[in-house]
Amino acid sequence: MKYVVITGVSRGLGKSLAKAFLFSGWGVIGISRTSDGGLEEEAKKMGKSYVFVPWDLTELETLESLAEKMVSLVPGDSEEVVLVHNAGEMQPVTEIKNLSYKEVEHNFILNTVSVIVLTAAFLRKVGGRFPFLQLVFISSRSVISPRRLWAVYGAAKAGVDHFVSSLALEYKGKDNMRAIAIHPPAMDTEMRKNYLKRRSFLFWLWDWIERYVLRQKKVYDPDLVAWKLFYLIEKHSLPSGSVWRWE
Ligand SMILES: NC(=O)c1ccc[n+]([C@@H]2O[C@H](COP(=O)([O-])OP(=O)(O)OC[C@H]3O[C@@H](n4cnc5c(N)ncnc54)[C@H](OP(=O)(O)O)[C@@H]3O)[C@@H](O)[C@H]2O)c1
Repeated sequence: MKYVVITGVSRGLGKSLAKAFLFSGWGVIGISRTSDGGLEEEAKKMGKSYVFVPWDLTELETLESLAEKMVSLVPGDSEEVVLVHNAGEMQPVTEIKNLSYKEVEHNFILNTVSVIVLTAAFLRKVGGRFPFLQLVFISSRSVISPRRLWAVYGAAKAGVDHFVSSLALEYKGKDNMRAIAIHPPAMDTEMRKNYLKRRSFLFWLWDWIERYVLRQKKVYDPDLVAWKLFYLIEKHSLPSGSVWRWE
């Protein structure tokens, strides 16, 4: 059997990815602070293998134990293991002069530092136990197309993209290990809703007009994005070190 570990599984893209992998017969281990009980119930009804592990990824000193738990939950005879770093947060969305040290620290700890620390711990624990390993990092298009007020989020995700390149370089020539960054499109999730809530009414109105009247802006259903990503991951279509963008 094949196993995937997904962070940020309680909602949005993470939850959609968990469903796509589960329906396709993979075992899923989901990590976030809160659970979506529906996912556990659905998996049970379908007789699929789903384990939820409640964890706060910003507690960096605990990530070694999390990696140990993740690896212990994957049966030793699994033919492939995928780790999807998906948990993320966009805040603070504000002008640079208004940024506070605490907000910047929190964003980088979740979006960048926890991703690097958990990857290192996971690689230590996993060793050569499984025949094929893929590490998938959900990043953002804002790395290449900077957006006003998104400086911290974009910078944190740029760090992730760089880390993926370095990881791929380190494992170059090892055909059984891949590291891939993904830039998903805009999706209808809590992250986007929270972002719009914090902007002005005029901003929200213009977003609505662009989306529904002018039809210039596309915002995707996370289920659709998840299925596309699932096929790319399952078919090993993405070369290690690459950044895949939804065009
Ligand atoms: N939405 C978009 O338009 C868009 C576009 C491009 C890229 N992305 C990227 O796609 C990924 C998923 O975004 P989304 O839109 O699905 O976001 P979302 O709906 O806000 O979900 C974020 C997930 O991260 C988890 N999370 C947050 N803080 C955590 C923590 N401290 N420890 C553990 N888990 C934590 C949340 O679970 P809990 O709160 O239960 O912990 C939740 O499951 C993110 O990396 C984001 O940057 C999103």
